[in-house]
Amino acid sequence: MGSPSPTRDPIMSTATDLAIETSGLVKVFGTNRAVDGIDLRVPTGTVYGVLGPNGAGKTTAVKMLATLLRPDGGEARVFGKDVVKDADTVRGRVSLTGQYASVDEDLTGTENLVLLGRLLGHTRPAARERSAQLLEAFGLSEAADRQVKNYSGGMRRRIDIAASILNTPDLLFLDEPTTGLDPRSRNQVWDIVRAVVSQGTTVLLTTQYLDEADQLASRIAVIDHGKVIAEGTKGALKASVGSGSVHVRLREPEQRPHAERVLAAALNADVQLDPDPVALTATVNGHGTDLGAAEQAARALAELARAGITVDNFGLGQPSLDEVFLALTDSRATPANVTHTQDTAEETKGTTA
Ligand SMILES: Nc1ncnc2c1ncn2[C@@H]1O[C@H](COP(=O)(O)OP(=O)(O)OP(=O)(O)O)[C@@H](O)[C@H]1O
Ligand SMILES: [Mg+2]
Repeated sequence: MGSPSPTRDPIMSTATDLAIETSGLVKVFGTNRAVDGIDLRVPTGTVYGVLGPNGAGKTTAVKMLATLLRPDGGEARVFGKDVVKDADTVRGRVSLTGQYASVDEDLTGTENLVLLGRLLGHTRPAARERSAQLLEAFGLSEAADRQVKNYSGGMRRRIDIAASILNTPDLLFLDEPTTGLDPRSRNQVWDIVRAVVSQGTTVLLTTQYLDEADQLASRIAVIDHGKVIAEGTKGALKASVGSGSVHVRLREPEQRPHAERVLAAALNADVQLDPDPVALTATVNGHGTDLGAAEQAARALAELARAGITVDNFGLGQPSLDEVFLALTDSRATPANVTHTQDTAEETKGTTA
């Protein structure tokens, strides 16, 4: 992103550099404030992750941004256009792959894409060509002539995403694109997202999985009960919550006090003694090092070996969403406070395609 030229109106230049800008966005269902004053700034050309548990308000927020739901308060602009006043303009630039799929079960993959292509105004040959291209790119060529109701969950998500990028949108909303998918299918969807972004599309991705946001997003907002409780680059966010835990099982219980000291020193972190007398757990927090969690864990293991401590078993776990929430809510002085993580020089744009 270039810096705004001095002659441009500062408000306009901000608006054009941001794919999404919301302030105090609210949606109320009865007495339930599903989205309760959300401020977001999503730079163009990036994947922005919105991370939150069931009922956090992710889908509701996305629907307002995609003009499918009218906000009850606050403002939202997409590429500088108001989602209420300029809804038609916004709609022309965005596409949504919903949590609940939108393709027709009884049609084949090809039929779905060609039909949607025709609805978008493509000629039949153009729609056929685009459809074949996408089916090929998404590894669905063999399934092209099968009814979508016979697709697996992973194939189903892929055809959904294909349907939403028939016309390359400037902004793509992906609402929990991989919930319920196996690791291989998740990886395929992630590759697709990276490919879409490399074409210049901005992606707003909602997810319940920290590792998914980590894989794809450059910035992440964590939302809970309709509010943003933390926001920042993924590096900063992870550093604030710890990037994983190392679980170690020793052969000899009497070596545990020694192992505890070695791990604490190697990882510069607190070590918990598990109820099992040979087991320890340490958080890999990334403080004071640029190493990834796996590398830090590997070094800690090497230190244990050097100290003559026999390790029977070890595992490295990603911090779960629970741990993220615990860390974030623990660090909040009051519920209204938002953790603004310290930005690092790390990824301010794009994905690791
Ligand atoms: N149309 C609706 N009418 C009434 N309440 C709604 C409606 N849509 C959502 N809600 C409520 O708003 C809150 C936020 O729901 P939302 O679907 O946005 O959550 P989410 O973060 O997408 O959750 P999930 O991860 O389960 O998809 C929930 O309490 C939900 O019950
Ligand atoms: Mg949802």
